[in-house]
Amino acid sequence: MGELFRHFWHPVLLSEELTERDGPPVRLRVLGEDLVAFRDTQGKIGVVDARCPHRRAGMFFDRNEDCGLRCVYHGWKFDVHGHCVAMPTEPADSTFKGRVKIKSYPVREAGGCLWVYMGPREQPPVLPHLEWTLVPESHRVVSRRIQECNYMQAVEGEIDSAHVSWLHAPLKGGNNPFQGRFNNAIITDGAPTLSIRETDYGFCYGARRQISSDEYDWRVTQWLAPTYSLIPSKDFPRGGRAWIPIDDSHISVIRYAYHPDRPLTADEVQSRKTTPAIEPVTYRLPDGYVIDISRDVRHANNDYLIDREMQRTRNYTGIGVVRTQDTSMTESMGGIVDRSEEHLGTTDATVIAARRRLLKMARDLQAGIEPAAAMNSEAYNVRAVDQVSPEADFPRFMDRYADVALGKVEAV
Ligand code: FES
Ligand SMILES: [Fe+2]
Repeated sequence: MGELFRHFWHPVLLSEELTERDGPPVRLRVLGEDLVAFRDTQGKIGVVDARCPHRRAGMFFDRNEDCGLRCVYHGWKFDVHGHCVAMPTEPADSTFKGRVKIKSYPVREAGGCLWVYMGPREQPPVLPHLEWTLVPESHRVVSRRIQECNYMQAVEGEIDSAHVSWLHAPLKGGNNPFQGRFNNAIITDGAPTLSIRETDYGFCYGARRQISSDEYDWRVTQWLAPTYSLIPSKDFPRGGRAWIPIDDSHISVIRYAYHPDRPLTADEVQSRKTTPAIEPVTYRLPDGYVIDISRDVRHANNDYLIDREMQRTRNYTGIGVVRTQDTSMTESMGGIVDRSEEHLGTTDATVIAARRRLLKMARDLQAGIEPAAAMNSEAYNVRAVDQVSPEADFPRFMDRYADVALGKVEAV
């Protein structure tokens, strides 16, 4: 699966985490590889091995100076492409410098994020045309935080419509967190009918909930390979998340929200930056490597600040923040859930579909077939749909709203 993921670009940092030329490097781990990112004197970004190819000292402690990262142990220096540009410990006529490289990956900047390509292609594919990455900076807000579980547990939470009616539900008298954003059926119909449509980018699925005898609430949510989601709501700003594996049991979560047509207001930006409340941390992974990332102030070590009185009287979980409600569930499954102990039911159809699709892509790759989605950037230009309709049939509903899903027109 790691080989498969390396065929895709991944947003690994926010641009705002690496603004300073010749500033301190930032530590990250992506797909199990320890890396540092730095912005050089000319503003170019390098993402290189976290350890020096000489004797493996940590590159985080290095001097970022004059278009390169200079290892402070013995002064070897590397540029953003990984070339060794200084090796002061060797004789002046040595050719050793030309034969040593530090591992480095291609980087692009889009959507307020820095993307890396760790794959086998000499010419990387085009970045996926996700709408949130294509709008002007003022129309978008992005944030990044760590989550302590396997990426697939989080992805499955995104495409599990049924949980919304339970995990996020208010109790009588409590505040409906989705008031005005989603149709109330999301709370009142806890057993939605799911239909899946396989697509070039992954799949989209419709969750149909009954409003009245001749009206349905349709929520069409995308899963875009390998780990993107688009979450429907009645209005923009609207968004989703990218779940980028740090390693098998940690995720760097990129959260995005955007409006296709106008800048976001200060309130819209502020609310998305502060809920859930996150704080920058130097996070020590279990094997000792430290990464620079933010973390939800509610986490497993403080039981997500669960309030049992709130759980008795106001909402289902006693956890005050919707996003953290999700995190608590997917982290509580363990670092990697033991799926042999699961009992999947009717509303888990999308979870099963995503697993099957990813496994098929991994098996295809073993047989020499590259993932088509990784090369099909256009396919990613779609929108989630939240729409009340008399249409009961998913294919017919999608025909009717195809232009909406493709981002061509706004729903009416
Ligand atoms: S370990 Fe980096 S220069 Fe020696
Ligand atoms: Fe949720």
